[in-house]
Amino acid sequence: MRIGILTGGGDAPGLNIAVYTLTKLVEKRHEVYAILHGWRGILNREIRRVSSRDLLDFAFTGGTYIKTSRTNPFKDEARAEQFAKAIKELGLDVIVAIGGDDTLSVAAEAQTRGLVNTVGIPKTIDNDVYGTDYTIGFDTAVNEAIRVTESFKTTLISHERVGVVEVMGREAGWIALFTGLATMADFVLIPEKSVSWDAVVKRIKETYDNKRWALIVVSEGIKEYEGPKDEFGHSRLGGVGNELANYIEKTTGFEARAVIPGHIIRGSAPTAFDRILAVRFATEAYGAIEEGDYGKMVAYKGGDITRIPITEVLGRNRLVSGYWLRLYETFWGI
Ligand code: F6P
Repeated sequence: MRIGILTGGGDAPGLNIAVYTLTKLVEKRHEVYAILHGWRGILNREIRRVSSRDLLDFAFTGGTYIKTSRTNPFKDEARAEQFAKAIKELGLDVIVAIGGDDTLSVAAEAQTRGLVNTVGIPKTIDNDVYGTDYTIGFDTAVNEAIRVTESFKTTLISHERVGVVEVMGREAGWIALFTGLATMADFVLIPEKSVSWDAVVKRIKETYDNKRWALIVVSEGIKEYEGPKDEFGHSRLGGVGNELANYIEKTTGFEARAVIPGHIIRGSAPTAFDRILAVRFATEAYGAIEEGDYGKMVAYKGGDITRIPITEVLGRNRLVSGYWLRLYETFWGI
């Protein structure tokens, strides 16, 4: 068979390992094609025959060697027609789509419309793909966010300042929550829990009076600013950390600073957890191909790797809830 592999959406540490491992398994019996630039690569017919040897030297770095895009081939019906025609011409039997909810939703739609067989692998540093406890990239992003936050903390202590760390997380506050727990931040703001900034200020004043510095971790997704939207309807986020630091400085008189590690936490080399997760997901995706079990996304559930219909993931996100929200409330409930 002719098997295509693509990565879509924001890059994430561990993507190269997933692509490499899948190629290494698939090439034993089939032809492997890298689809460059995510779904855009289908529209532009950018596919290249690859071997695991081609990918090996980049397998353990961050980023995605086969490139990515946020192209939505179902943006409108004219585009969808072009997409269907391109898929037919390329003659791929299966496409393995490695991505977040947007990329996976395209895989689900392509399968439902009968355009091509698909298998999904969830990745995003945000960890917000429905149906899986972990996505490729999240663990690395959290470890990097912790590293940055700990460095920041030392200078907050020296200067007796309030510090705000803004981390990525569009729909879900997983990165902020895990970073906040791991560094025992004085406050954490996540999209799932709306709190008034005055209540945050009150808490920070108490903390500051006690230890003469304070640390807040905030998820970029708590506030959306006006701006251009991508093809899946998302606006660009970022900036709330500075706004919050200014607000705290103005209302308390404490000196405040914000840092936005942004893409830095997305670009590092994958941790052991993300490496093994990528290998396990790729192996399961290969199993799905060999069994002809299409329209499935591989998932991590309670330590096991399983498969769920990709359609289940559509239009949903895995948000901070249940046990994790209670843990949040234990430390930062107001
Ligand atoms: O990968 C998901 C994500 O990290 C979001 O949290 C963030 O808003 C977005 O990507 C930013 O991506 P970019 O600036 O690369 O488009």
